[in-house]
Amino acid sequence: MPATIIVGLQWGDEGKGKATDFLAEPVSLVVRGHGGDNAGHTIVVGDETFKLHLIPAGVLHPHITAVIGSGVVINPETLIAELDMLAERGIDTSKVRASSAAHVILPYHRALDTAREASLGDGRVGTTGRGIGPAYEDRAARTGLRMEDLLDREVLERKLARVLKEKRAILDSLGAEARPSAAPLVEQAAAWGERLRPHIADTTWLVQEALRRGDHVLLEGAQGTLLDIDHGSYPYVTSSNAIAAGACAGAGIGPLQVEEVMGVTKAYATRVGSGPFPTELHDEVGEGITTRGNEFGTTTARRRRVGWLDAVPLRFAVAVNSVTSIMLNKIDILSGVDPIRLCVAYEIDGRRVEAWPSQAGLLERAIPIYRDFPGWTEPIHDVRSLRDLPENARRYVTAIEEQAGVPIVLLSVGPERTQTIERAWRPMRHQPVVPG
Ligand code: GDP
Ligand code: IMO
Ligand code: MG
Repeated sequence: MPATIIVGLQWGDEGKGKATDFLAEPVSLVVRGHGGDNAGHTIVVGDETFKLHLIPAGVLHPHITAVIGSGVVINPETLIAELDMLAERGIDTSKVRASSAAHVILPYHRALDTAREASLGDGRVGTTGRGIGPAYEDRAARTGLRMEDLLDREVLERKLARVLKEKRAILDSLGAEARPSAAPLVEQAAAWGERLRPHIADTTWLVQEALRRGDHVLLEGAQGTLLDIDHGSYPYVTSSNAIAAGACAGAGIGPLQVEEVMGVTKAYATRVGSGPFPTELHDEVGEGITTRGNEFGTTTARRRRVGWLDAVPLRFAVAVNSVTSIMLNKIDILSGVDPIRLCVAYEIDGRRVEAWPSQAGLLERAIPIYRDFPGWTEPIHDVRSLRDLPENARRYVTAIEEQAGVPIVLLSVGPERTQTIERAWRPMRHQPVVPG
């Protein structure tokens, strides 16, 4: 039985948490494969809201094993706080598993992240300050600590003694005050290890065994395609592969074990942090979307930049992720916006460009070419079938689908689990086609 990947098609915060939660019910295992607690996934069930940074959204379903794969960088403090928060709210966390091979974010990674951003001044990336980049640097340099190391005090002492000398020198050169020392860190790390011991496992085999049993596995993406370290707008990106292939690598799933890649996009665009954003709005239309859409970060509470949906990167994201279907979210936020604009190409240096440019600098000069759509005024939170959407909303949805070249199978009209329109056949549920 195959796996399904949920992947962000924009700059993150597309609603991957809601998508995962919605699709999770018939699966036995949900895996996160990359990123860390820079992610913030909000799931709304009834009048309960859950904000998760590390544990996959599947944890809200009692039968699901929620796995944090080896490609994730884990801040143990965040993981413990999340386990405690869920337990306090009556959620069973006994089936949460974190890969023994996942790398650990330590306090000096956060200090380095903050210090480096400060030293970059206007050129800063606008990171979440969670130490993500520095932790992935150590992983690539082979000087990082893995979750399994938290379980062995001798290993902790040896590895930390070696690495801290270098970290202190870098922090010093960046003008940071933090000077981490080994002894208290060993104590802290060993305590984290004791607390997390029941959750640390060889997750690659867990995932592979589930697939071999014939269970359906769901991969919960984090961040989004345009933040991908290879394919995003470098250097304004995160430090992992946020595309579907990154989720596979970090979960230990081969490409041929994936049956469906569901791309998630909002009906408009947002971006947190620095970097080019051709369709960004700086007017009261953007203000209205920010307010109605509550576009403030789950992780850092920063105001998200807002703009029109851009089909240029959407087509690119469909290609590089081999997207088979799309979930279109937050279309309810566009009620009352007229006209609604959809960017279909750019003008760069006097030329029409339809392919997302990978060279740095070109995007900064991109002038969007828009197609305008008449809006609608009525609220649509209670709509549950495509045919009950206002005609103008349907036209906009069809135009997005044409641009993307793959079917939009789910539409979301509100944050709550049931505020979702199921439109078409999805392989993982083997449902019949619902026309319209
Ligand atoms: P993620 O990081 O991709 O999981 O997305 P976030 O959770 O960071 O941001 C999406 C936000 O939009 C969350 O607060 C969701 O509860 C909310 N949301 C998701 N889908 C919809 C929708 O269709 N309509 C509205 N109004 N809110 C939505
Ligand atoms: P979810 O999973 C939105 C952004 C940061 C910054 C850049 C690099 O909730 O969609 P980092 O801390 O990763 O080094 O920051 O990436 N970023 C996100 N933006 N949603 C996220 O995750 C993000 N994770 C990182 O704002 O621009
Ligand atoms: Mg988010």
